[in-house]
Amino acid sequence: MNILLLGSGGREHALAWKINQSDESHTLYIAPGNAGTANCGMNVLLDLNDFASIAKFCVENKIEMLIVGPEEPLVKGLCDYFKSKPALEKILFVGPSQQGAALEGSKAFAKAFMLRHQIPTAKYKEFTIENYTEGVQYLQQHSLPIVLKADGLAAGKGVVICHNPVEAIAEFELMIQQSKFGEASKKVVVEAFLDGIEMSVFVLTDGKNYVLLPNAKDYKRIGEGDKGLNTGGMGAVSPVPFATPSFMAKVEERIIKPTINGLQEDGIDYKGFVFIGLISVGGEPFVIEYNCRLGDPETEVIIPRLKNDLIGLFERTCKQELDQVKIDMDSRTAITIVAVSGGYPGAFEKGFPIEGLEIEVSADSLVFHAGTKSDGETILTNGGRVLCVTSFAETVYEAVEKSRDVLEQIYFDGIYYRRDIGYEFL
Ligand code: AMP
Ligand code: GLY
Repeated sequence: MNILLLGSGGREHALAWKINQSDESHTLYIAPGNAGTANCGMNVLLDLNDFASIAKFCVENKIEMLIVGPEEPLVKGLCDYFKSKPALEKILFVGPSQQGAALEGSKAFAKAFMLRHQIPTAKYKEFTIENYTEGVQYLQQHSLPIVLKADGLAAGKGVVICHNPVEAIAEFELMIQQSKFGEASKKVVVEAFLDGIEMSVFVLTDGKNYVLLPNAKDYKRIGEGDKGLNTGGMGAVSPVPFATPSFMAKVEERIIKPTINGLQEDGIDYKGFVFIGLISVGGEPFVIEYNCRLGDPETEVIIPRLKNDLIGLFERTCKQELDQVKIDMDSRTAITIVAVSGGYPGAFEKGFPIEGLEIEVSADSLVFHAGTKSDGETILTNGGRVLCVTSFAETVYEAVEKSRDVLEQIYFDGIYYRRDIGYEFL
């Protein structure tokens, strides 16, 4: 099959690597990809917001399946665009319609969806300039901490947790009056703070049936012990030790089934991943957020654990045949550690040579590229998150040891990684 995969992160390298593991032979293109995906297929330079160019490439290269890694093209309606064009409508499209992607693209849409389908989540209210004064009063009388969320996509920065009313009102004003996150914060969701432990579940749905993929927990803070600024993700663990069968049964009954049924009841076309960010409050699951794609770096632990053929799964997804699939996963633990550029998540420099990539790693470890590029001879850093090392073992401790052993042999100017991924489970 001729396949086009959109994206350029560690998530896309893991997906491309997995597609290469298939028994069937495929021709894989990755746009724009990175130096790692170049070993799994052919990188092509396409702008993911330029739908016409993506369409032209698909027609010219007889693409039969399009897999979308990041959320932005989905939220902007790439799926609907393909479904509306006779030359493209037959391409198997892995990713939801624009309406489905609004579960991630609009926090207010997601909250209303959860309310409508009785899915447990924090209590909330939404505000715009129209009911701004009411919003200020709401913030003044609300219990603390309080969570303010820009409605739209804000590159992972749109959520602010405030610890006093003065801070909350100042943030509210910045978001609505000063357009702190542009269009994205013209509407703000204000919600109650939930105190608990977070994890993520990953579902693949054909809009009618679903399969549950391995679960994961990511580590968002830059510093060890979960200190410092938020990042795109510094590491991940799968499976999550506290996600016991009884907890997961609650998640399926109270959250996953009502979500899939809700999509159907609302007439939303959804063929793709639903990534549900959960919080366990005293053992009871609540939804923190929905995403319409896989997580990064969660993909780098869940995809290596998945034993099913990925393209076979996607074919079943597009044909609404996921009821005929049984998911098979590696029972071992997988962890990944992300190596980032010095200064990240603040300002950082790019273009440093990466040494040690030629080393032989054991069968239990995998190196996935994220922000890397090749200048023809050397592989250079090209982003904040540069690469990650995933390892398998029977325990979190052993898996972390294996990834650290590999990372000790890799070097670039300013390299930094957390050595404590999975620390609470050791
Ligand atoms: P989101 O972009 O919605 O995932 O939010 C980013 C992060 O903010 C989450 O991963 C949580 O750590 C935190 N967060 C969001 N909503 C809440 C909430 N209602 N209670 C506690 N923490 C939250
Ligand atoms: N690691 C979190 C995300 O991909 O959104």
